[in-house]
Amino acid sequence: MKILSIESSCDETAAAVVENGRKILSSVVASQVEEHKLYGGVVPEIASRRHCEAINAVVRKALTDAQLTLSQIDAIGVTYAPGLIGALLVGVNFAKGLSMATGLPLIPVHHLRSHIAANYLEHPALEPPFLCLVVSGGHSHIVEVTDYTVMKVIGRTRDDAAGEAFDKAARTMGMPYPGGIHLDKAAEQGDPSLFTLPRPKVEGAPYDFSFSGLKTAVINLIHNASQKGETLPVADLSAAFRQTVVNSLSGNFLRAAQDSGYTKLVLAGGVSANSLLRRRMTEECQQRGWSCYYPPLSLCGDNGAMVGAQAYYEYLAGHIADTSLNAYPTMDIAKNHA
Ligand code: KG4
Ligand code: ZN
Repeated sequence: MKILSIESSCDETAAAVVENGRKILSSVVASQVEEHKLYGGVVPEIASRRHCEAINAVVRKALTDAQLTLSQIDAIGVTYAPGLIGALLVGVNFAKGLSMATGLPLIPVHHLRSHIAANYLEHPALEPPFLCLVVSGGHSHIVEVTDYTVMKVIGRTRDDAAGEAFDKAARTMGMPYPGGIHLDKAAEQGDPSLFTLPRPKVEGAPYDFSFSGLKTAVINLIHNASQKGETLPVADLSAAFRQTVVNSLSGNFLRAAQDSGYTKLVLAGGVSANSLLRRRMTEECQQRGWSCYYPPLSLCGDNGAMVGAQAYYEYLAGHIADTSLNAYPTMDIAKNHA
């Protein structure tokens, strides 16, 4: 089964053709990052406009690259939640139009479920059940994936998402948006022991995260130094920040796995590109005889292929929408589209 899939939840306009949820036939991503960089973050109104401009060509290229025409496609998958509402609506309405014109089934896909599904494209043998750490610019969840469309959140952030914390800390250190990757690179050259940062913890909720205190601590350190006319070593501060975030993410994730008996651990979302998080989880799982999976760097960020992967399993579960499909800025990952 060949699914044409569309993603427009944030600042990438993306489309792909994926076969049977596992094989990428084409994947096209048009990023708007260069424009949002000027403003230090995503400007929702600009994002919606750029999606409108790009979506037609991106979808056409996905078909051309796969050497297919619409008549050879079996279904259309689209991200419908969560995300920027104006941005999501562009993809959803485009997909609805295509579905109406062709009669092809329309499959709504939850954005975080698609981040998890990016792993199915890279690891052919990976199947639920497993425990997944989904870490992106907007979310930090520990999710029990009991089946492809059956999930339960057992840990979540109480304030900032991990990616958001990386981006804000990086911005204060003068790095361009999105700063996560720049902070990660700087941290590779730094010594994390030169700064002591508060270890984020949520009392009474061992799987939950909190990153806002840590973010504020870094911002205060930098501001206090600049008031005294001093500059802090960016590489060392980046290394300390990254280590504290990764200690929290991996610590809670491993504890949740231990408590619930999962030995198959999966990383997903933009922050799963973080080099220390990948190394740490690989080592910790190796020591315990557990398995650890994460997507290739090319599939960690937003893309259409991951939407096509999840759409296949949503289709098999009968989660098909009619043309009344709407987009939603928030949506529980556990909720199935009827
Ligand atoms: O999943 P994603 O592409 O978009 C959302 O759904 O939010 O995640 C983007 C987030 C950004 O905050 C970005 O800075 C972060 O992922 N990110 C990283 C790295 N690469 C991307 N954070 C830390 N280390 C990285 N190497
Ligand atoms: Zn995302």
